[in-house]
Amino acid sequence: MTTPRFNPLDYSSHLLIPEHLSGVDDWHGHIPIAFMLIEILRPSLVVELGVYAGDSYFAWCQSAQILRKSSLHDIHCFGIDTFKGDADMGSYSEGIYLSVSQHNKKYENFSTIIRSTFDESVESFQDGSIDLLHIDGCHDFAAVEHDFETYYPKLSPKGVVVFHDIIPTYAVATKKKIIGAAQFWDILKTRFPNRSFEFYHSFGLGILAPNEIPNTDLACLINSANTPDADLIRQYFSVLQSHIKLAEISYTATRQQNSLYQLVREFAPELADKLMGDV
Ligand SMILES: C[S@@+](CC[C@H](N)C(=O)[O-])C[C@H]1O[C@@H](n2cnc3c(N)ncnc32)[C@H](O)[C@@H]1O
Repeated sequence: MTTPRFNPLDYSSHLLIPEHLSGVDDWHGHIPIAFMLIEILRPSLVVELGVYAGDSYFAWCQSAQILRKSSLHDIHCFGIDTFKGDADMGSYSEGIYLSVSQHNKKYENFSTIIRSTFDESVESFQDGSIDLLHIDGCHDFAAVEHDFETYYPKLSPKGVVVFHDIIPTYAVATKKKIIGAAQFWDILKTRFPNRSFEFYHSFGLGILAPNEIPNTDLACLINSANTPDADLIRQYFSVLQSHIKLAEISYTATRQQNSLYQLVREFAPELADKLMGDV
């Protein structure tokens, strides 16, 4: 029996407008894929290793919240990070953690931010329990391999792992090319043949179902990897980056407009009131 053709438009969530976009845009191109994966997988437990400013994490949460409301499906999300940075990216300010904690309030009935190392948190999860694991910590080969092997026993039989940066990229801190995640991804593709699909835009995203393929919808996506449809699917999601870019431009413009009104208020409060009343 042939599997049906994969059609992204069967999953309307991928066209949502993201509610959280920081200035860190490396992952923005994958947000529609994150929305769609939640709809396809209907996971009960989602864990992200590497939250930083929350752009990927809150995409899982936004889609999870819709699924929880629309079908009363119980999902819990955990985002783990020291919020201190790493060898690739250098260190960053405490403000990042504060802003992620603040935005998480929107999802606090099902989402928990854990401030710790990935290793310190691993025993918070039962073996065989994680349905969707996103690995996006340090991209050094040894680190990605370690994070995968440490969390692999925690994956549920139908668990799916998502990897960022499967295309060689550059470390912000060291300016060196980082190929560790890409090299490790190549090894995984050999270890788990015919169990993955990859996207090449936004530094690449790998989707891997190392145990059982969870359902026919994901099977359709994975089975299309070796067909001409694979390039069409990739092209579709690559073009969708402009949809996210438009949202990003609109958020940036709103932030700048608010800053402008605050400055105007310093010099001419009545004018600021008038301008703000006009919007
Ligand atoms: C590439 S960023 C994550 C980007 C984020 N997923 C996004 O979409 O923008 C990597 C993050 O992983 C964190 N990190 C790296 N290694 C870690 C470890 N072993 N334990 C906890 N956090 C770690 C860093 O602090 C950093 O915030």
